[in-house]
Amino acid sequence: MIRFSTTSRPDSDAPLAVFVHPSGAVLRQIPSSLTLPSSLLTTAREDGFEGKTGGSFLLRNPSGQPSSRLLLLSVGTGAANDPAVYRHCAASAARRAKDAGWETLSILIPSNIKDPGLILQAVTEGILLGSYSYTKYKNVSKPSKSLQNVAFVVPSRLNPRRAQGNIQRGSIAADSVIYARDLINESPSQKTPDTLAGLARGLACPSIQVNVFGKKDLLRMKMMVLLGVNRGSAHPPAFVHLHYRPKTKARKRLAIVGKGITFDSGGLSLKPADSMTTMKSDMSGAAAVMAVFKALPLLKPAVEIHGLIPLTENMPGDDACKPGDVLQAMNGKTIEVLNTDAEGRLILADALSYASTLTVDEIVDVATLTGACTIALGREYAALLGNDTALKNRLKEASRLSGEKVWELPLEKNYRDHILSDVADLKNMGNPGEAGTIIGGVFLQEFIGQKKWAHIDIASVSWTKKGNALCPPGGTGVMVRTILNYILGRTA
Ligand code: BES
Ligand code: ZN
Ligand code: ZN
Repeated sequence: MIRFSTTSRPDSDAPLAVFVHPSGAVLRQIPSSLTLPSSLLTTAREDGFEGKTGGSFLLRNPSGQPSSRLLLLSVGTGAANDPAVYRHCAASAARRAKDAGWETLSILIPSNIKDPGLILQAVTEGILLGSYSYTKYKNVSKPSKSLQNVAFVVPSRLNPRRAQGNIQRGSIAADSVIYARDLINESPSQKTPDTLAGLARGLACPSIQVNVFGKKDLLRMKMMVLLGVNRGSAHPPAFVHLHYRPKTKARKRLAIVGKGITFDSGGLSLKPADSMTTMKSDMSGAAAVMAVFKALPLLKPAVEIHGLIPLTENMPGDDACKPGDVLQAMNGKTIEVLNTDAEGRLILADALSYASTLTVDEIVDVATLTGACTIALGREYAALLGNDTALKNRLKEASRLSGEKVWELPLEKNYRDHILSDVADLKNMGNPGEAGTIIGGVFLQEFIGQKKWAHIDIASVSWTKKGNALCPPGGTGVMVRTILNYILGRTA
C-alpha cells in the first residue's frame, strides 16, 4: 500500500524527484515551485545522464537543495504536456525507489504545463503500475523496505481538493489494472471458467448485478458455439453478465465484451509448444472487463454498462470440436469450424449475439484475437476496428489519454468473401496470410446486428515478454484505463 499526499514543500529527508527535459546541449528543469540551478543539471549531464524518456539520474548531496537526494527524471524530447511521458517517468522513479529501498519519495509536479491535474493522475498511475510485481508463487519474502509514502509537491494553481481527486482517480485506475494483471498472471489451471465466474460474482454490490450462466443455461440460450468450443475441455463453460446501473439517470448505455479463453491450446488444431507458453493470457479481454467493473462503483459514471464474458478453455479433449464441424450461433448463423485455434471469434459470436439483444447504444469488445495483429502493428499498438466513426474516434481519444495506443484497421466489406463457407453460412478462418486481424473483425461483425460496435484486438499488447517501465514481464492489463476513459468521456 502506497499512501499519497500533497504538500507545498518537499520533505528534506526524502529523495526529491524533478522532471527535466533536454533542450539542445543542456538539461532544463520543467518549471515548478522550486528552481534548481542549471549547474546541477550540467553536472548530471557530464556524469552521463542522457535524457531519453524515462531515464533517471540520482544527484547526491547537491548543494543548497531542499533534499540531499535529487532524482532527475527525463521527459525526453516528447511533448511536454503528454501524460504518457509523466506516467512513464513516474514508473521509472518507482522502480528506482524499489531497487534503492526508499520508503518515501517527494515528486515535484511541474506548474507550466497545460493541465497539472491530468499529469498528477498520470504520475499516480505510473508510481503504482511501476511498483507492480507478481509474487504469488515466489518463495521469497517481501523486501523489508518498500515505497510507502509519496508526497506530491503541487503547483499553487492546482487546488488541493482537485489534486486529491486526481490522485484518487489515478489510484482507482491503477488498482484495476493491477487486478487485471493478477488475473492474467495466474496459472491457467487455477482460473477455470468456474473460478473466474466466482470472482466476477464477488464484484456484485448495490450498483452491480451479476448473473452467471452455466452449461444448462447456455443450452437453453442456444449458445451452441461457446458450448462447441468447450467440448474438448474437462471444465464446464460459463457466461458472465455484469450489469452496472448508475443512481442517476443514465446518459448512455454500453456493453463491454471480453474474450475469456482461460487457456488456449489451439484445440485439435494444436498450437506448437512455443506458441502455447503465454496462452494463459487469452482471457486478457475478460480480465479487462472485470477490472473495469471493479472501478465502476468507485468512479460512479452516469452510464449504464453491461459487461459480458464468455468463459471456456480451448482444449483438445476426447469430445473436442473437430475441423469440419458446423456450429450454430445464438443469432442463428451457422459456422464451419476449419481451425479450432480460431476459437476467440467463435465464443465472441455468441457473446456479441447476446449483446446485440440488449438495449444498448454501443458495443465494444476486447479480445486477444489474432497473432496477425502483432505482424501488422508490432507490440506497441492494439488494433481498432468498427462500424461507427464517432465511436471509434471516442475510443481513440480515450486511448490517447491512457497512453495505451490503438491503430485503426479497415473493416473491409469486400473481404467478407474470405469467410464464406461451402457448407455453412460462415467459416471461422480466411485466406492464410491475408489480413488476419481484419478478417477477425469482419467475422465478428456478422453477430452485432444493427448495433454500433467497435472491436479492439489486443493480442499484440496483452503480454510483455521483456517488460517495460510500467509493467514487468507478464500480463499487461491493457485497455482497462482506455475503457474507463471512454466510459467517463475523458479525452486528452
Ligand atoms: N489466442 C490466439 C491469438 C493470439 C496469438 C493471442 C498470440 C496472443 C498472442 C487466437 O485464438 C488464435 O490462435 N488465433 C489464430 C487464428 C487463425 C487460426 C485464423 C492465429 O492468430 O493464428
Ligand atoms: Zn486460438
Ligand atoms: Zn485464443
